[in-house]
Amino acid sequence: MVGMGREKITLTGTQETMLATLYGRALDSALPRPILGDAVSAEAVRRIDYDFRKTGITSATKSASVTLRAKTLDDWAREFLAANPECTVLHLACGLDTRAHRLAPPSARWFDVDFPDVVELRERLLPTPPGDYAMISSSVTDEAWLEQVPDDRPVLVVFEGLSMYLREEDGARLIRRVTESFPSGELLFDCFSSLGIRAQKLIPAVRNSGSTLHWGIDDPREIERLHPGLTCVNALRSVAVPGIELLPLPARIGLKVFSAIPALRDFGRIMRFRFTSA
Ligand SMILES: C[S@@+](CC[C@H](N)C(=O)[O-])C[C@H]1O[C@@H](n2cnc3c(N)ncnc32)[C@H](O)[C@@H]1O
Repeated sequence: MVGMGREKITLTGTQETMLATLYGRALDSALPRPILGDAVSAEAVRRIDYDFRKTGITSATKSASVTLRAKTLDDWAREFLAANPECTVLHLACGLDTRAHRLAPPSARWFDVDFPDVVELRERLLPTPPGDYAMISSSVTDEAWLEQVPDDRPVLVVFEGLSMYLREEDGARLIRRVTESFPSGELLFDCFSSLGIRAQKLIPAVRNSGSTLHWGIDDPREIERLHPGLTCVNALRSVAVPGIELLPLPARIGLKVFSAIPALRDFGRIMRFRFTSA
């Protein structure tokens, strides 16, 4: 009965790229010392009929680039949730990410947002996380979706693997809208540099899904300028996130080489901004 009940994937473009991060988390969960230990992702991968070689994430070594980024964002999110238990979480471009399962905040109001076809698949593949949880089927660049979200609490906005897919003007408008709508909060997200955008065809998940990256961010001040209350509190190079010491030796050597070349070490960043209403 192999294959019975498995979901055949017909998504293309940016929606398809969520399978790369899902697969990275699933491979990690089988490691003796997993970085995320995300068993829900592993179960989802078992239920998907898709050639995961297309993601370019072919080994647990490569999965570390995905899981270390996710872990950094999880750790920052946990800090915010501990300080603001009664907050609203906007997890934008959630894909098939199990962040709501991993963090499971008991008294937060959580919204997972992605395109309608992604949300439909999510409903079929993933268990509903505990707590006050809802999904919103919309492009984050549409104006209407934010009207469904009450604006009375501090907000944690997390978006992993999204900023680079947006056009700069859309990304800037999105950040302005959320920072103007809530009394205070944090934005946690990763980005590529403009060089990273120019080199996008080197990334298998991007190339093989036929998606296009647009927005490169070279300096966190570009984000601070979007709203007077926004301050960058952390901007880590992707090649220098905590936990790199856990990687197998070949991966650590690869990162060392990467980090020694100035243009390459700034290829990707993970950033944390705080804001209060100005
Ligand atoms: C690389 S995947 C990341 C998925 C997830 N954050 C993760 O880390 O597993 C990119 C995701 O961005 C979503 N996305 C891209 N543009 C979007 C938009 N304008 N509105 C909502 N979601 C978008 C895609 O559907 C896809 O799920």
